[in-house]
Amino acid sequence: MGTLNNKELVDLLLSTDKKEIHKLFDEADRVRAEYMGEGILVRGIIEFSNLCRNTCKYCGINKFNKKLKRYLLTKEEILESVKLLVQDNLKTVILQSGEDDGLDPVWLKDLIISIKQLFDVAITLSVGERNYEEYKMWKEAGADRFLLKIETTDGDLYEELHPGMSFDNRLKCLKELKELGYQVGSGNLVGLKGQSLESIANDIIFFADYDFDMIGIGPFIPHSQTELSLDAPGDYLLTLKTIALTRIMTKRAHIPATTALGSMEKDYRAEALKAGANVIMVNYTPTKYKELYEIYPGKRCLKEAPGACNNCLPFMAKELNRKIDYSKGNAVD
Ligand code: 5AD
Repeated sequence: MGTLNNKELVDLLLSTDKKEIHKLFDEADRVRAEYMGEGILVRGIIEFSNLCRNTCKYCGINKFNKKLKRYLLTKEEILESVKLLVQDNLKTVILQSGEDDGLDPVWLKDLIISIKQLFDVAITLSVGERNYEEYKMWKEAGADRFLLKIETTDGDLYEELHPGMSFDNRLKCLKELKELGYQVGSGNLVGLKGQSLESIANDIIFFADYDFDMIGIGPFIPHSQTELSLDAPGDYLLTLKTIALTRIMTKRAHIPATTALGSMEKDYRAEALKAGANVIMVNYTPTKYKELYEIYPGKRCLKEAPGACNNCLPFMAKELNRKIDYSKGNAVD
C-alpha cells in the first residue's frame, strides 16, 4: 500500500466492507512485524500533577472544572513510583501533567537529574507547551523524549477546541523539540464533533510528513465536566483504522494501543495491537491520585495498585502470539 493520498485514506476510513477492513488491519500488522518486530514495548506513566492553565473543551482536567481536587506529587513520591516501575522491569517512564504555569522548570530539571542518577530508564516528558529555554534545560538534564499531541491538524477546529491557544505555536513547539534532539511524539483524537474524515486523513499525512517517533491515537470520550459532555464518543473502528493507516504510512513510529481505547465499552487494546500498534502503557500513578487525573471518564483500572496492569500483559501478549519487550524502545531510524 505504501503512500496513500488524502482521497485514498478517506476511502479506507469510510469503508464498511468487512473484508476490506480485515485486509487493511492485516497489512498494518504485516508492516508492524516487518519494521518493529514482535515485541510489545511497555512504558510506565506517572501522572504527577493535574494542575492546568488551559480550558481545552474535551478534557476533564481543564481549568474550569472546579469540582476537581488538584494535586502535585512530591519529588519523593515520584521517585518512589519510578522505583516501582523499575522493579517491574520497565525502562521508560513518562512524566505527564496538565499544563501548569506553576510548574517550576528547575524543579523538573532536578527531578530528571535524580531519576537518571538513580535508575537506568528513558524519560519521556508530557507537560505541554513551554518555552525553548525550558525544553533545552530538560533535554540537557537527561530527558530523552517528549509527547505533544497535535490533537487535530484542522487549525480552525484546533483553535475552537483550545481557547486561547494557537495552532502555530503548537507547531513551533514541535519544531523546537525536534531541533533539540528529543524523540518526539504526536497524535490525535478521533471522533471530535466537526472533525471530517478528510481532516483525519490529513492528520495521518501530517504524522508521516513530520516523521514523528511516537504517535498516540485515541477515541474522544465525553467527560461530564466539559463543554463537550453531550457529544457522542469517537468510534472504536474508526480509531483502529486510523491506527492501521498510520502504521502503513509511517512504518517505524512507535504506536501505543492507547489507554483510551482500553477504556471504552470494551477493551480494544488487543485489537489495536493487531492493527499496527506496538506499545502499551502501564499506569504507576499512586492509587490515591489516579482518579484525580480523569481526563476522560471510565479510565481503566483506577482502583488498582500502581503497575497492576503489568501482570496482565503477558496474557495479552500470549493471546496475540507476541512477547512483551522490556527494553527502552528508543526511536527506530
Ligand atoms: N477523550 C479522550 N482523550 C482525551 N484526552 C484528553 N481529553 C480526552 C477525552 N475527553 C487525551 C488528549 C491528550 C491526552 C493526554 O489525553 O489527546 O493529549
